[in-house]
Amino acid sequence: MFKNLNKLQGRATKKTRASKRRAAFFEGQSTEGTHTPVLLQEVLAALEPKDLETFVDATFGGGGYTQALLDACNCFVLAIDRDKETLPRANNVFERYGSRFRFLLSSFGRIKFLLKDVAFQGIVFDFGTSFFQLETAERGFSFQKDGPLDMRMSQEGISAFDVVNTFLQEDLKKIIQTYGEERFSEKISHAIVKERTKNPLRTTLELAQVVRSIVPKSGPLDPATKTFQALRIFVNNELREIEQALMGIGELFLEQQPPILDKITVVTVAFHALEDRIVKNWTRTMEAQALLDGSFQVYKKNAKVRTPSLQEIQDNPRSRSARLRAVVLEKGSEKNPQKSRAPQSPRPQSLRKDS
Ligand SMILES: C[S@@+](CC[C@H](N)C(=O)[O-])C[C@H]1O[C@@H](n2cnc3c(N)ncnc32)[C@H](O)[C@@H]1O
Repeated sequence: MFKNLNKLQGRATKKTRASKRRAAFFEGQSTEGTHTPVLLQEVLAALEPKDLETFVDATFGGGGYTQALLDACNCFVLAIDRDKETLPRANNVFERYGSRFRFLLSSFGRIKFLLKDVAFQGIVFDFGTSFFQLETAERGFSFQKDGPLDMRMSQEGISAFDVVNTFLQEDLKKIIQTYGEERFSEKISHAIVKERTKNPLRTTLELAQVVRSIVPKSGPLDPATKTFQALRIFVNNELREIEQALMGIGELFLEQQPPILDKITVVTVAFHALEDRIVKNWTRTMEAQALLDGSFQVYKKNAKVRTPSLQEIQDNPRSRSARLRAVVLEKGSEKNPQKSRAPQSPRPQSLRKDS
């Protein structure tokens, strides 16, 4: 199927009634609400889609980025999401864009296998949860809605209920401390264990109540925010998924022979430091590898990390902590686009500090 995606480039249809489709798509979602894509214009500016190019939307969610890419020009999008609840939305997009769109229900941590033999020019990741996951109480992601303690994006594997009710106090503490960067992790884990000896903690509101009884309220954030973030990251193995995906892209890029994957733009939208740090470390590793190897270069597309405007934060408060990075992997060096050693002087732009 992925090989077919490359062939399909030759069968592109002309861009037609894009704006009408866009309106219909969002109208179609209006009964269940909608996800507002974060930093959308910045994502498009970083990917610079052109006719017949192929892009990977590794976190389809509400399809906001996918739809905008397909509307921007006559390009192709291969979208991935691990949540089967995205399937009806993916079907909507397929009905509207036909062969220009493909969808894979899978984890992006498997990208190295999923994208084998796919020629693509850009890939985007919008980490974290979607509007739909947060708004559906039964998914158990939100401390504002009463639902079962679940939090599994793929609806498989251990749930937040299992972690909260069966893990040792020491392990709970580690999870809350590491993935929530929560300084009250010791007290919270104690309180959880004490509470569950009376009755298992079954719902999001029960857990939120325990955490709120421990963490003092300060600022606009709910005291349960960090604990919920920690459990969600743990249950979904989110950080490992990001590491595997980025490493997989690097390997695919290096293994493919020209002209496939000569140049890839990797765009990430991170919502907290734990995600962003992985992206930064991966970029540094790729930069170092490029210096050693000499047959490719790595550079940042924007001098600075992109963050939302005040207006976007006002319109969509969820965007407030978003940080967009765009990194380009390109075969050939600045001096010799075919193949040469990395330039020694002046210092490659990719190693200048920006943030
Ligand atoms: C923030 S939403 C994306 C929203 C999307 N950019 C839009 O504009 O509608 C994140 C999506 O990524 C998915 N996701 C998170 N981790 C994933 C993973 N490791 N593999 C595949 N999908 C993942 C979630 O299920 C969720 O639907």
